[in-house]
Amino acid sequence: MSPAAPAVPLFAERVHRIGTEAAFAFGALIRNVEETGDRVIRCNLGQPDFPLPAHIAAAVKRAIDAGLTTYCDPQGILELREAIAASVGDHNGLDIDPSRVVVYPGGRPPIGFAHMTYSEAGEEVIYPSPGYPLFESFIPYFRCVPVPMVLTEEEGFGLTRTQLEPLITEQTGLIFLNFPSNPTGGVATREQLEGLSELILEKTGPNVRVYSDESYEAITFDGDEHVSIASMPGMGARTIIASGVSKTYAWTGGRVGWAVYPTVKEAEVHRKLGINFFASIPPYNQWGAIEALKSPESAPAIRKMVVAFQRRRDQVVAALNAIDGVTCQNPKGAFYAFPNVAGVLERLGAIEAYDRLPGDIRIDTSPSTLLQLFLLHRYRVATMDRRSFSILGSEGQHYLRISIANADDELTEAVRRIGEAASDAEGFEDFMHSGVRLTL
Ligand SMILES: Cc1ncc(COP(=O)(O)O)c(C=O)c1O
Repeated sequence: MSPAAPAVPLFAERVHRIGTEAAFAFGALIRNVEETGDRVIRCNLGQPDFPLPAHIAAAVKRAIDAGLTTYCDPQGILELREAIAASVGDHNGLDIDPSRVVVYPGGRPPIGFAHMTYSEAGEEVIYPSPGYPLFESFIPYFRCVPVPMVLTEEEGFGLTRTQLEPLITEQTGLIFLNFPSNPTGGVATREQLEGLSELILEKTGPNVRVYSDESYEAITFDGDEHVSIASMPGMGARTIIASGVSKTYAWTGGRVGWAVYPTVKEAEVHRKLGINFFASIPPYNQWGAIEALKSPESAPAIRKMVVAFQRRRDQVVAALNAIDGVTCQNPKGAFYAFPNVAGVLERLGAIEAYDRLPGDIRIDTSPSTLLQLFLLHRYRVATMDRRSFSILGSEGQHYLRISIANADDELTEAVRRIGEAASDAEGFEDFMHSGVRLTL
């Protein structure tokens, strides 16, 4: 390049406006820690610790053997869209045509595409905090305005009409909901969903969409059945119903997700986005997903997993509540415990330690992040901090997410270590001066 040539920036400015999912960055940190010594108990992972059910694996293999390894319908092969339409329609009492269904490589792309499709710059996007991080991370990327709806322990991490009402304005473009919730395990009751639906229909125009992320729909406890907001009167025409195979069928590597759109026109727009980004989803995995949705062998496989999660939930929640300074609600679904660790942070002096940090570090961490890092480095337990699940609204909220997708004895040992760490103020003080990075 001649010295006179103008130096353009390497990256477009928008690159600096997108967030991420801290869980992936944390994986690298765990590996670094393991290289220096003992194995870490991983309670940070958002994936079931069960194998892909054999009947689904067999269907994938059959499809590969049959040569179904080429490009295919960018919207998702018709047989899969039919199976999704039937399953989602049955659950919600809706009549769904397969032309309204779009299949994606997992549950993430339809989130980004919803931001891209429905929200103009300057429009407000309402999303749960604590909530799945991708709801928030795209908002600045598209120059929209984040409106976190702070879910509280007092409301069982559900969402009431009273909480949502003040957040809706004339600028509201899109509303994200996620029940059962990652990270809280909260589930909105039918009454709460009725209240929310009435409010949304009353206060927003016909083009405002609700993105209902139902990735954990099959994992509910104590005999509860998942209820979608789409099944409330009038909401079928407003709701994008999204889910996939990752959690329900313990198949995070399958990369098959889907969304059902209120109109064919919306599905067509998303189909076009899919063509631009990934053309089509591996057809053999789509045949696996068809088997998953249609086979009578799926229900018992799911039940086995849910029974194990419920047993572990009971075990972990009781053990966490026995730790001085921890209170933990019973999650109603998903596979995470979300204990309030404010008392532990106080005992360890973590809140004061956080307040004393230089501003440039403080902005990227939190008291619960310090506890998360202390647990990793000194007690070899990996958890996730509150801040990883929506930054806005996390200030002053002191929680950890503990994945119960782990063997019973591993969980027992993990909570024992957390209990030990909770009274190790000296160790925490030493850790804070050890020179390790205090951000994720
Ligand atoms: C609420 C929620 N939505 C979407 C996803 C993305 O799922 P997938 O692995 O299918 O991309 C996850 C994964 O953790 C999730 O928790």
